[in-house]
Amino acid sequence: QTMATSSSDRRLRHVESGPGRMQRLNAVVLGESIASEEDELVFPSEGFSEQALVSSHEQYLKMYKRSIEDPAGFWSEIASEFYWKTKWGEEVFTENLDVRKGKITIEWFKGATTNVCYNALDRNIEAGNGGKIAIQWEGNEPGHDAQLTYSELLEKVCQLSNYLKDIGIRKGDAVVIYMPMLMELPIAMLACARIGAVHSVVFAGFSTESLAQRIVDCKPKAVITCNAVCRGTKVIQLKDIVDDALVESAKNGILVGACLTYENSSAMMREETKWQDGRDIWWQDVVPKYSTTCEVEWMDAEDPLFLLYTSGSTGKPKGVLHTIGGYMIYTATTFKYAFDYKPSDIYWCTADCGWITGHSYVTYGPLLNGATVVVFEGAPTYPDYGRCWDIVDKFKYVTRYSRKSLRILGSVGEPINPSAWRWLFNVVGDSRCPISDTWWQTETGGFLITPLPGAWPQKPGSATFPFFGVQPAIVDEKGNELEGECSGYLSIKNSWPGAFRTLYGDHERYETTYFKPFSGYYFSGDGCRRDKDGYYWLTGRVDDVINVSGHRIGTAEVESALVSHPQCAEAAVVGVEHEIGAFAAPDRIHWAPGLPKTRSGKIMRRILRKIASRQLDELGDTSTLADPSVVDQLIALSDF
Ligand code: PRX
Repeated sequence: QTMATSSSDRRLRHVESGPGRMQRLNAVVLGESIASEEDELVFPSEGFSEQALVSSHEQYLKMYKRSIEDPAGFWSEIASEFYWKTKWGEEVFTENLDVRKGKITIEWFKGATTNVCYNALDRNIEAGNGGKIAIQWEGNEPGHDAQLTYSELLEKVCQLSNYLKDIGIRKGDAVVIYMPMLMELPIAMLACARIGAVHSVVFAGFSTESLAQRIVDCKPKAVITCNAVCRGTKVIQLKDIVDDALVESAKNGILVGACLTYENSSAMMREETKWQDGRDIWWQDVVPKYSTTCEVEWMDAEDPLFLLYTSGSTGKPKGVLHTIGGYMIYTATTFKYAFDYKPSDIYWCTADCGWITGHSYVTYGPLLNGATVVVFEGAPTYPDYGRCWDIVDKFKYVTRYSRKSLRILGSVGEPINPSAWRWLFNVVGDSRCPISDTWWQTETGGFLITPLPGAWPQKPGSATFPFFGVQPAIVDEKGNELEGECSGYLSIKNSWPGAFRTLYGDHERYETTYFKPFSGYYFSGDGCRRDKDGYYWLTGRVDDVINVSGHRIGTAEVESALVSHPQCAEAAVVGVEHEIGAFAAPDRIHWAPGLPKTRSGKIMRRILRKIASRQLDELGDTSTLADPSVVDQLIALSDF
């Protein structure tokens, strides 16, 4: 199997042998000299494994083996812990991942009926947790906060569901949500889920054009937004962007009848907001008038839950479609195990609900587990760089920045190189908190390769092992699966419940992009290395791979080497067209005051490549950058 854990390996045997391993952890943390990056093992700290849901590698292997040999049994047992109006039949799932055998199809729990909102709210309330805090909201300004218990959240969701039904939104209709991280954002997602409407959240940092493009593609019956938001000291007038996007969409024949607007009075008063009578409605004027109970729409497990657009490397954005049943089970289960969830935890994911991380690990995964989730409206740098740790301490009520309440740290979206890993581990987590470096994608719905924090030692910079039910394969450029220690294209051999089912309106593009490159596999687009102990190391997008004299070098590998120098805070590496040279040495290194990053922390290497090859009129949409001025600085710096 892909779990290439060699039993002859001294270190891994060490994991299996129990308590003695703690000494090795100390040795590593204290900086015992290590042979190479790959050999550095960081063990769970004392006491962590004993209390963990999966407390040893053996226990993981046993569960993993079962999940691969009997996926139907494994997942249906987990699914039985949720509420289903009607159960699935004999066939728990069907899949065809091989284009040579016909249309690509993935179905889980087909024919069963359920509702995600019911499982996240009503079910937890019925279990006696109605008084537990569901959302702990922290505003942009320190001291501006609010909270909702599970019962209060359900009431708010029901009011909005009733309103949406009243304006004619039915099962299967799309609703675009363009909102900042107010509590009303998860409320809007859950209200759609309750009545069977398909939400499409558009990150509220996207430009008019990006929003219009998404509206034209999914043709929503309504848009839910808010008038403005403060991010740090900046006020962003979201409603103006929506107005322009709706004009743009109308030009393309898509007329949206309703624009429900939440008045965010801490950013802007309603009197100052531009308004179109007949189309625009203030949330506060209508929604609170509706009943606080609302019947659930029972949905087929394979009905769509949401669309989320992800930028394609070429052409229009791809509408990634996730369905109800499988996504519900997969996000709930990955959340539970990757974060070793305990009911007493207060959990904070800093991602915005405009990204998949916010869908799966702010809204659905945690609430399905009955967790208390922190939702943060502001920016991590406002009023100063200590804001995150301020929030961590605030919700545990300990002294300023003690971070004693932290149990587990998570990381996602970019390779976390070993130096950054060690900083997070040693400085933020006091060498005590395991790091869940979770590898996944918008398309995968939930984590595919992730540490289980109490089960095995970590290697800084590696996402470690596959989650239950996931069979990764590293293939070469011809699609041959490589065995053991190797590096190549990261693909997946089988379906898992949280996999996306199609690209909205373009099943052919779904097949071409993900299933045609290597017949029989889902192709992730990422490069990956598997080491001698079976650990997986993500090396970056394969479109970013640098080819030097036939040697294929992952951007992440060069970046890791650069940031291992103490003077280098972070690095982004791209290849430019060049004569074939004999050595893999960088031609130029530019020192830069900052890198072009999205607000979710992803480095936009596409922009760097264009700058490096001086294709300055092809920079594309830079509106999602956290700080677009970085681009001008980089252009000036790289003018050679
Ligand atoms: O290249 C991988 C990188 O982010 C891509 C997916 O991006 P997106 O669909 O926006 O989803 C972000 C949240 C999952 C992947 O193809 N990536 C994600 N997680 C990691 C990662 N690269 C390295 N290590 C990770 N843990």
